[in-house]
Amino acid sequence: MDDFVTVTYQGKSYQLPVIKGSEAEKAIDITELRKKTGFVTLDPGYANTGACKSSITFLDGEKGILRYRGIPVEELADKSTFKETAYLLINGRLPGVDELRRFSIMLNDHSLVHEDMKVFYQNFPRGSHPMGILSAMVNALRSFYPEIKDTEEEINITVTRLLAKVRTLAAMSYKISRGHMVVLPRPDLAYCENFLNMMFDTPVRPYEFKKEVVRALEVFWILHADHEQNCSTSTVRMVGSGRVNLYASISAGIAALWGPLHGGANQAVVEMLTRIHQEGGDYRKAIERAKDRKDPFRLMGFGHRVYKTFDPRAVIMKKMCDQLLNRLSIQDPLLDIAKGLEEAALKDTYFVDHHLYPNVDFYSGIVLRAIGIPTNMFTVMFAIGRLPGWIAQWKESVDDPQGRLARPRQIYTGPRLSHYIPLAERELIAV
Ligand code: CMC
Repeated sequence: MDDFVTVTYQGKSYQLPVIKGSEAEKAIDITELRKKTGFVTLDPGYANTGACKSSITFLDGEKGILRYRGIPVEELADKSTFKETAYLLINGRLPGVDELRRFSIMLNDHSLVHEDMKVFYQNFPRGSHPMGILSAMVNALRSFYPEIKDTEEEINITVTRLLAKVRTLAAMSYKISRGHMVVLPRPDLAYCENFLNMMFDTPVRPYEFKKEVVRALEVFWILHADHEQNCSTSTVRMVGSGRVNLYASISAGIAALWGPLHGGANQAVVEMLTRIHQEGGDYRKAIERAKDRKDPFRLMGFGHRVYKTFDPRAVIMKKMCDQLLNRLSIQDPLLDIAKGLEEAALKDTYFVDHHLYPNVDFYSGIVLRAIGIPTNMFTVMFAIGRLPGWIAQWKESVDDPQGRLARPRQIYTGPRLSHYIPLAERELIAV
């Protein structure tokens, strides 16, 4: 063992190996810690814990770097499509011409959903949140479509089925929630166009494609496609480690993403900006509230567990937001409030000292509004974008020969041994 750290406790020393990632990230391998020392580690929120080795996404929060399979997210946002990025994440490299064509054909062939699934939608109470519906529907896919078997081809079919059908299910949920006829996917449309058409086309007002809108959606989804071991991805891996099927793992990931500290932040940002707007537009009050330790309010779309200088996705999103609104000649008062809020927060010592910067969700809601997506569908849009990442991470974890059932330890702080008291005696004591 040439590189290790030494842990010394009560005069006894133990050596733990140091391992390095391909970008020179260092980790202490504690696989043998409990066996050798009897200790476990305590790391709430896993802020210091590497749960796996992964070759999918590299992220450096200090330098603001994000790369999928080695390629900077800036390059993908500039030159790639969401479909190609999904292929890259899932298969480990960009597709060749034939591979991309085959992938497109498969996405088209699997884009319809079983007619019986439509009945499910009718039975959700009106006003149900689309994330809850999506999570349930994705889990239900397992009942309609056969389980993954062992061959690469069968796995590919399940993966493509998910990518194709989740998009259809999301658009269907929107149409049904509005009491509109469901619009079916069209073979002549590419992935993003198809989604927009399923969302917004009606028999009396055919959807008119605008290239800026299509590109904005491509970029929005590329920026969300993976983000290494975040809350929902770790959930997908953890649920998958019990060898449950892919649909159930993704369904759990969707549920995890729903929360306002994670993917639900895009909806929460627009709700926050709307409130500020309705109350007269004074964003300074929000800043003061966010700084007040007694107030649970946080500035939504600000801060990140990993990014401590800037979120590279937020930089691209802000630029795109400006361009999109300009080209579509949209005057959104929320954009002015967001910009004012950002500028004021970045000058405020609380935000500077806490390393709090806008994250991807700060401007993404304004982009989605400009595309025409209703606020309660924002997190569903994030989920469709994150799908390739979840799938890639799930595949990597189930293929890992060292993969084990995820089963963390705990430090127990409850009562020490106590004994059962029969009910009659308990009542006597209570009296
Ligand atoms: N507004 C005000 N204060 C904040 C904020 C915020 N948005 N975020 C963190 N802080 C403060 C927090 O109060 C704490 O202060 P102190 O140390 O004085 O007690 C300190 O910063 C550290 O906070 P934390 O909760 O321990 O930090 P974390 O790394 O666990 O939290 C976070 C990361 C994203 C949950 C948090 O920054 C947050 O709640 N942000 C708002 C929600 C949000 O925008 N979420 C989207 C994240 S990006 C999309 C995704 O990848 O999911």
